[in-house]
Amino acid sequence: LRHFLTLDGLSRAHLIDILDRAEGFLGIARQAIKKVPLCRGKIIANLFFENSTRTRTTFELAAKRLSADVLNLNVNTSATAKGETLLDTLRNLEAMHVDMFVVRHADSGAAHFIARHTAAHVSVINAGDGRHSHPTQGMLDMFTIRQHKGDFTRLKVAIVGDVLHSRVARSQITALTTLGVEDVRIIAPRTLIPAHAEATFGVTVYHDLRAGVRDVDVVIMLRLQRERMDGGFIPSEQEYFRLFGLTEKRLATAKPDAIVMHPGPINRGVEMDSRVADGPRSVILEQVSNGLAVRMAIMSLCIGAHNFNMNQQDAADE
Ligand code: CP
Repeated sequence: LRHFLTLDGLSRAHLIDILDRAEGFLGIARQAIKKVPLCRGKIIANLFFENSTRTRTTFELAAKRLSADVLNLNVNTSATAKGETLLDTLRNLEAMHVDMFVVRHADSGAAHFIARHTAAHVSVINAGDGRHSHPTQGMLDMFTIRQHKGDFTRLKVAIVGDVLHSRVARSQITALTTLGVEDVRIIAPRTLIPAHAEATFGVTVYHDLRAGVRDVDVVIMLRLQRERMDGGFIPSEQEYFRLFGLTEKRLATAKPDAIVMHPGPINRGVEMDSRVADGPRSVILEQVSNGLAVRMAIMSLCIGAHNFNMNQQDAADE
């Protein structure tokens, strides 16, 4: 696996392998072990052309725990702001012998474009492109679900909110269906659901939150992605919360042990009430912690450190 651009086309065995591999990195993610030398001597460049808190920082931390050298390109202060093309920026970073680009971009397909044009020894990981794909987020979400629920096959999972503009939802739906979840529901206003969603994604569509979360094991909330709403109907925040905001009362129709997830950033009082976001069923911060182990697994896989063995740990490093 040289690049990690999308979950489309990856087999169940591939996804399970990544989840198992990430289990092996949990000790490092939790700092029981400080570092491993799997990517020592490698240079990893974070190219974030769009804002990020969780993804950028966990990729940086993951690279450092793998002992790589990390470059964080600040797009606002880089020569991109002076009109340098994306390809010229890549060529210059390749001249510094970068081994991996981690790319976030507002344009769908940007990571694929970079992967097509980069040097043969370089790997590309998609850290979110437009409304297309956010594959490492999809995998850390699957990791979190497996930690709490074990087997995927009998689960009922509801994804609530702005699916139309969500790359996270696309990656989650692909991963859930590949891992054998038969009951995947999306719950949203008609204006925030992609055309032909049921046929295209193999999901069931609901427009009523209470009915949609009935008996589910997992509720995944999404925010309104206003930065990708170009012109169409945009609901007011108050109106949206009134109809689709997750409150303790609405969550009551889900299974008693249902977990609540959110990729972040949360807009409190818009897609969910703070009592749910901070409540006992919320695993939102666990998702963030798990992102570190999952990204270590994916980076090491792409960079060629295929045979990770905990005996290779290098706790003394640094
Ligand atoms: N989930 C996610 O992608 O968050 P950031 O935008 O903060 O990276």
